[in-house]
Amino acid sequence: MINLANQLTNRNKFIIFGGGFSGNYFAKSIRKLGCTALTSSRSKNNDPNSFIFNSETNLLPESSIFEGATHILSCIPPDKNGNDPVLKSLKNKLQGLSLKWVGYLSTTGVYGNTNGNWVSEKDNPNPLQERSQKRLNCEKEWINSYLPIQIFRLPGIYGPGRSTLEAIKNKKIKVIYKDDQVFSRIHVADIANAIIYLIENKNKLDFHQIINIADDEPCAQVEVIRYGYKLLGLKMPEKILFEDAKKYLSPIAQSFWLENRRVSNKLLCEKLGYRLIYKNYKVGLDNCFINII
Ligand SMILES: NC(=O)c1ccc[n+]([C@@H]2O[C@H](COP(=O)([O-])OP(=O)(O)OC[C@H]3O[C@@H](n4cnc5c(N)ncnc54)[C@H](OP(=O)(O)O)[C@@H]3O)[C@@H](O)[C@H]2O)c1
Repeated sequence: MINLANQLTNRNKFIIFGGGFSGNYFAKSIRKLGCTALTSSRSKNNDPNSFIFNSETNLLPESSIFEGATHILSCIPPDKNGNDPVLKSLKNKLQGLSLKWVGYLSTTGVYGNTNGNWVSEKDNPNPLQERSQKRLNCEKEWINSYLPIQIFRLPGIYGPGRSTLEAIKNKKIKVIYKDDQVFSRIHVADIANAIIYLIENKNKLDFHQIINIADDEPCAQVEVIRYGYKLLGLKMPEKILFEDAKKYLSPIAQSFWLENRRVSNKLLCEKLGYRLIYKNYKVGLDNCFINII
């Protein structure tokens, strides 16, 4: 990776909407480089770097939060009506700031089903699920906002504290198998690191408004689960065929199995030169394992 610490300094202030799993991880990463990073939460907490934002109840951040802001990252999904929570409540406010960069975390769900084929940013989105259509609408809204926006399409996110290992330990896992079905995934550290890499090298790299951040090796979910059981020293239960498991799954859980695609990271990793920290689920889960033992 190109020297990061030189360019992002304490003169940069990041406002991160949605201090959930990825937003919080990104905030911690960017603070290590000396930047200020504030994260939003829908309810009050004791974190001095957190502020309240809830688009549903119209709880908006105080003006002081935006003072000196240089970068924005939104990690909030569309609301139940399909609106983007940040743009719905704060578009004018953001447009009035002198921002260097704005990022939006989207999903690879916008590509729909490719029957296991590779899909890249060059392919037209073809959302299958209503939630993915809403997501695509939000992407378009961000693009039409004329903010300096960069959109990151993400597959299943995992990392320390939220991975197959916790699912096994909390007995929340079903070992489901469907012929030829694969999923793509990404470790949360690579989301943060890739975004920082792109911001740091903005002036040297071609600018792409939409970028996939995915690891190198989409694979069957059962492979990941098997590896999780191995790390934990536990015996994996028998596999259940998707057709048999279907009736026990929630509609949302079922819907994930209706889409089968391999998400390409060639733009990020070949053209733009980002080097993944966790190129596949094995090295990624090894890292999660270190964090729970
Ligand atoms: N999880 C995945 O596998 C996955 C895969 C692809 C894409 N994505 C997308 O990537 C983004 C980040 O994912 P994540 O899993 O890191 O998110 P997450 O942990 O679920 O956090 C979501 C954040 O959004 C906030 N939020 C939700 N609705 C809000 C509203 N109406 N007003 C204000 N704040 C609101 C939540 O606030 P609180 O902190 O108060 O709860 C939380 O901080 C999301 O857009 C997600 O849909 C996720």
